[in-house]
Amino acid sequence: MVAVSGFILLATALWCRGAQAQNTTSSTSPAAAVTAANTCAQLASSLGTSIVQTQSSGPEYSIGANFAWSTFNDEVNFQPTCIVFPNTSEHVQTAMKAIFQNNAEYSVQAGGHSGMTGWNTVENGILISFINMNSTSYDSQSDTITLLPGIHWGDATSALQQYGVAPVGGVTVGTGLLLGGGISYLSPAEGYAADNYVSLDVVLVNGTLVTATVDNEYADLFKALKGGGNRFGIVTKYVVKAVHTGLEQDKRWFGGLLVYPNSSSEAVLAALAHFVHDTTNPNAVLASTIRTTWENNSSPEIELDIVLVYNGTEASFNQSFAEFLSIPYTSIAVQPLSYLDLLEAVTFPDGLGTLFGASALTGVPVNSSIEQYLETYRLYNNFTTTFASSPDIAFTLLDFSPVPRSQIQAGYEKGTNPIVPPLGTGGYHEILFQVTYLEGVTQPSEDVEEGRQFWIANAPSTPGLPFFLNEADANQEVFATYGGYKFLKQVYAKYDPTRFNVEHTQGPLGL
Ligand SMILES: Cc1cc2nc3c(=O)[nH]c(=O)nc-3n(C[C@H](O)[C@H](O)[C@H](O)COP(=O)(O)OP(=O)(O)OC[C@H]3O[C@@H](n4cnc5c(N)ncnc54)[C@H](O)[C@@H]3O)c2cc1C
Ligand SMILES: *[C@@H]1O[C@H](CO)[C@@H](O)[C@H](O)[C@H]1NC(C)=O
Ligand SMILES: *[C@@H]1O[C@H](CO)[C@@H](O)[C@H](O)[C@H]1NC(C)=O
Ligand SMILES: *[C@@H]1O[C@H](CO)[C@@H](O)[C@H](O)[C@H]1NC(C)=O
Ligand SMILES: *[C@@H]1O[C@H](CO)[C@@H](O)[C@H](O)[C@H]1NC(C)=O
Ligand SMILES: *[C@@H]1O[C@H](CO)[C@@H](O)[C@H](O)[C@H]1NC(C)=O
Ligand SMILES: *[C@@H]1O[C@H](CO)[C@@H](O)[C@H](O)[C@H]1NC(C)=O
Ligand SMILES: *[C@@H]1O[C@H](CO)[C@@H](O)[C@H](O)[C@H]1NC(C)=O
Ligand SMILES: *[C@@H]1O[C@H](CO)[C@@H](O)[C@H](O)[C@H]1NC(C)=O
Ligand SMILES: *[C@@H]1O[C@H](CO)[C@@H](O)[C@H](O)[C@H]1NC(C)=O
Ligand SMILES: *[C@@H]1O[C@H](CO)[C@@H](O)[C@H](O)[C@H]1NC(C)=O
Repeated sequence: MVAVSGFILLATALWCRGAQAQNTTSSTSPAAAVTAANTCAQLASSLGTSIVQTQSSGPEYSIGANFAWSTFNDEVNFQPTCIVFPNTSEHVQTAMKAIFQNNAEYSVQAGGHSGMTGWNTVENGILISFINMNSTSYDSQSDTITLLPGIHWGDATSALQQYGVAPVGGVTVGTGLLLGGGISYLSPAEGYAADNYVSLDVVLVNGTLVTATVDNEYADLFKALKGGGNRFGIVTKYVVKAVHTGLEQDKRWFGGLLVYPNSSSEAVLAALAHFVHDTTNPNAVLASTIRTTWENNSSPEIELDIVLVYNGTEASFNQSFAEFLSIPYTSIAVQPLSYLDLLEAVTFPDGLGTLFGASALTGVPVNSSIEQYLETYRLYNNFTTTFASSPDIAFTLLDFSPVPRSQIQAGYEKGTNPIVPPLGTGGYHEILFQVTYLEGVTQPSEDVEEGRQFWIANAPSTPGLPFFLNEADANQEVFATYGGYKFLKQVYAKYDPTRFNVEHTQGPLGL
């Protein structure tokens, strides 16, 4: 839900995709190109040319190559040698066997919302795109939801609302959210999204298909996939807990969007720090985005968008969010909501290049110093001021995603995950610094990139807190911040003994 509210107003703008071609990918060896071409030819003959498409052969190739949310991952920068559009796990197994045996480069794309350039596409390699495997279903007997990897959360939630259930997931993005842990409006009650796995079908790097559960022989793999990203295998089916969120007419939630001016920023930061430290009630949920835009290269305009929702009554809402409600705001739009209303309030623009950066800060008790929150914001404002006249930037965001104590606790109760945040004095915030570039920009300029890295290097973070894989920079060592780092390394060595994934597909560092 991070990066969510900031788009509410932006969504009214219509963005088209820049068509300007430019070769910006780093050079890969000619050998990789030959290997990829041979592997693609082999796969086209075994799976057929509708499943395996090249730039010249396939009508869906350009859809697959331009499906990524960040245009830095589009065909302008990356031209996969072929795209495999599997319909079944068996197709994925066939593809992975050939990729593994031939030592080919490859990448996997589900919802395509990665902010890391090169993590969901590939040059001189094979892209496995889940566009065709995008269904969901609810099994009332086991009270579980099945998600195929290509579905988007909004579509899954809409399809399932007739049963009054929803998966713990995001808004419009894809199922890759789960592999990074995942933060949802349902997380304070249910844990990280991935804490709600029931079983996973996984194609291992050598093409073997296994089903992993909390207590079978693949229990270590099952746990590693609750935050291990794309390193442990390709998930071809997620079975997850069904959360009973209610029918459309039930409107069990109360809340909505509050917009604050920058003059309220210090008070809002204090309220966020207090909320995540103090709240023990999993029914109180919030998401926050600070958004900076530049109109015609004039001075930065800042807006703080805070979504506050309570699973319950307006009176409880008033009580839980009293500190936020006492701070001067520009506008407030709160009402009874169904779970889907909550998600549908938000749409996302497409077609712009985006990069992420992460840090994490612990909550702060009332009347204690919020210095690290202020310093985080000062560094953010220094970036936006320094680059106020950059011709490249469309907007920037600073998001604080609460991970309250109840969420951490729920994760422990559901079998733990490799992220294992400490159950210390209270909750903490995962912090996202996002820079989104203007239409037509295919590569960030050097000076802006240096400034972005300056924020990443200097933003304060509380020692011992895990960073959020879903919202980090590609070069941040996120796994090293996990409580379960050692565990992840052991499981990785077991399931990918030749280190094929680390060497042949881009993804999280540190294994
Ligand atoms: C607008 C926006 C809103 C967001 N909101 C939230 C939010 O509310 N909560 C949250 O937690 N995160 C949020 N995020 C972050 C988001 O969860 C991550 O970007 C996530 O990686 C997106 O998953 P995807 O399937 O869309 O992306 P993809 O780019 O397709 O995949 C992400 C990564 O996972 C790998 N991968 C995907 N599927 C598989 C698979 N089946 N097997 C193996 N590897 C796979 C890919 O190779 C890639 O490395 C948001 C991002 C954006 C851009
Ligand atoms: C792209 O750049 C690489 C590395 O500089 C080069 O080898 C390749 O030929 C270029 N491709 C195109 C299409 O210009
Ligand atoms: C794969 O699925 C797509 C979309 O559902 C369908 O159009 C296509 O015919 C299927 N191909 C095969 C080989 O099953
Ligand atoms: C699956 O993808 C197809 C093609 O993009 C789309 O028409 C369909 O609505 C999607 N299904 C679901 C359940 O999201
Ligand atoms: C909402 O609160 C009710 C009552 O406290 C609880 O039973 C239910 O599980 C909660 N639902 C969600 C989705 O958190
Ligand atoms: C926003 O508020 C911060 C903190 O008070 C301040 O330092 C900054 O200059 C303000 N920025 C703008 C553009 O008003
Ligand atoms: C910015 O430029 C656009 C188009 O030139 C114009 O319509 C708009 O009014 C300008 N905005 C400001 C704040 O000057
Ligand atoms: C909640 O607070 C608002 C604003 O102060 C007030 O108008 C409303 O009546 C309150 N609702 C309840 C149920 O207390
Ligand atoms: C915070 O400080 C104020 C003013 O000194 C005081 O009234 C209040 O009781 C303090 N709150 C806490 C929780 O210590
Ligand atoms: C502000 O940002 C610029 C660009 O990254 C950097 O060079 C400078 O040191 C920063 N200043 C402060 C006070 O953080
Ligand atoms: C594939 O890898 C797994 C895990 O390392 C191993 O148990 C299995 O034997 C391998 N399968 C083949 C066919 O090599």
